[in-house]
Amino acid sequence: MLIQQLSPQRNRNRTKAIAARDVRMVYQSRAERHQVLKGIDLEIPRGACHVLMGPSGSGKTTLVSILAGLLTPTAGQVFLLDREITQLSPRELTRFRREHLGFVFQGFNLFPALSAAENVEVAFNVKGIRGKAAVAGAQSLLDLVGLGDRRHYRPCDLSGGQKQRVAIARALVGEPEIIIADEPTAALDAQNGQAISQLLHHLAKEQGCTVLLVTHDPRLLKYADTVHYLEDGQIQPQDSSRARFYLNSVA
Ligand SMILES: Nc1ncnc2c1ncn2[C@@H]1O[C@H](COP(=O)(O)OP(=O)(O)O)[C@@H](O)[C@H]1O
Ligand SMILES: [Mg+2]
Repeated sequence: MLIQQLSPQRNRNRTKAIAARDVRMVYQSRAERHQVLKGIDLEIPRGACHVLMGPSGSGKTTLVSILAGLLTPTAGQVFLLDREITQLSPRELTRFRREHLGFVFQGFNLFPALSAAENVEVAFNVKGIRGKAAVAGAQSLLDLVGLGDRRHYRPCDLSGGQKQRVAIARALVGEPEIIIADEPTAALDAQNGQAISQLLHHLAKEQGCTVLLVTHDPRLLKYADTVHYLEDGQIQPQDSSRARFYLNSVA
């Protein structure tokens, strides 16, 4: 299956939610200098659902961490909702992320001592919503991801898929305009993976969220407007033989 055939580009507002201009990233250790990103240019329109794929170690987590303002690139510019986040002070950036962005980490990043509900409530607290409103908000988001009945469980008593759903519920707190998820279905079985795929798709299509997913999961591909393929530090042209070869191997 070719990338272009996965899903037709939908007609929607073309304003950009995420843009990267010549983003470069070098990891420097004492022994070596490793250039992971060699000039990334990327544009994601508002309300679109884009997927980022690429081999393990190609820099996908590095790139989405930069796009989410969690990591500072060595060079280049990142724009979110037309603000250049690479120019913001740490304080401004924290505030911007809190107001506009939900991020689902590859490793869940849940607080082990807190229940599922408390993990989500903390995210409400961070956004200034406390008390009953935070409790009710956490309950409705856990219901949304199908975990209402597990809200008192701690992460250690939840399956990988359930933990991932808590992580997604947490990223949805405050109805962010942009959701970036790093391999959100990697730990999920078929049924949970399908449910999460549909939820992320629903957010993009019905709620107008912009969704960027790192994934190897063919279940998510059918929901993507565009697939970006990262290899050798660059986004490979969509019709390149490498991108086609990779897509054929997972789709
Ligand atoms: N903090 C770091 N310091 C040094 N090297 C890193 C760091 N984070 C990632 N890398 C290296 O950068 C490359 C890309 O990593 P990553 O972005 O995690 O790739 P992916 O998510 O595609 O598997 C890997 O070779 C990894 O070892
Ligand atoms: Mg990764």
